[in-house]
Amino acid sequence: MPRISYVNGQYVPHAQAGVHIEDRGYQFADGVYEVCEVRHGYIVDITRHLDRLNRSLSELRIAAPMSRAALVTVIRETLRRNKVKNGLFYMQVTRGVARRDHVFPAEGTRPSIVITAKSTDPSIIARKNAGGIKAISVPDNRWDRVDIKTIGLLPNAMARQQAKEAGAQEAIYVDRDGFVTEGAATNVWIVDADGTLITRPAEHGILRGITRTTLIDVGAKLGLEIAERKFTVADMLAAREVFITAATSICFPVVSLDGQTIANGHPGSVSQNIREAFFDVAEKIAI
Ligand code: PDD
Repeated sequence: MPRISYVNGQYVPHAQAGVHIEDRGYQFADGVYEVCEVRHGYIVDITRHLDRLNRSLSELRIAAPMSRAALVTVIRETLRRNKVKNGLFYMQVTRGVARRDHVFPAEGTRPSIVITAKSTDPSIIARKNAGGIKAISVPDNRWDRVDIKTIGLLPNAMARQQAKEAGAQEAIYVDRDGFVTEGAATNVWIVDADGTLITRPAEHGILRGITRTTLIDVGAKLGLEIAERKFTVADMLAAREVFITAATSICFPVVSLDGQTIANGHPGSVSQNIREAFFDVAEKIAI
């Protein structure tokens, strides 16, 4: 079945889908994005993802490409045309096409919007959950506004590649003061000796992950103690459990960091309980 993508008002075969070479996303990474999970025919946490998209757009002063209702219709149609039941959609909005100039283009320049959808293999996620993943720590070398979900992901791509070359699956950023910020494409959590679930506050230095927000609701439902406070690599190495969260994977246990084993080197029960309870708590709308 050929993949279909949505580009600026049209559904086109994925292989032919494209934007203009002077799109500001292409030239300046002047745009924002969202990745949202689809599971068993339901879109997960769409309200929170669209709220964050609006926030990212307004922080960068990019106009909304269409109304929220229209966007949901297009997302559903893109998923239907690709027959996605388990997988994800990716949505990107840029400031649009204009002659190359750093300053913003003329008022009224239409933002560009692209939506792609794909099915994913749940068995790959299951395997990562069963064995856990390895991570490395790297200095956080990103700009100051990582709270905005921009498409400017070069440092993140470099860090993920560094992790891959070290035989790991995620790179975990550490700020100048020695505190963990987040992963190259995930938020980071630890469970301390008392069983408290700890994650960095989202006010500064990290993206406020949607999975992170929903997981706080899940933790409350499970009666877990949750603390939003900073922690270090040493805290991670001393933790009972470490895991990372992102849409499409919920949470992956981290069983080693920089080659050092965390706890007994096996995924812990807290991340497993959270994963099992996650979809009962998350918002779901049928495709
Ligand atoms: N990444 N932090 C960063 C830097 C991220 O890129 C992401 C998501 C997260 C987790 O956010 P959420 O729970 O809303 O997915 C945290 C997506 C999945 C990506 O870039 O593919």
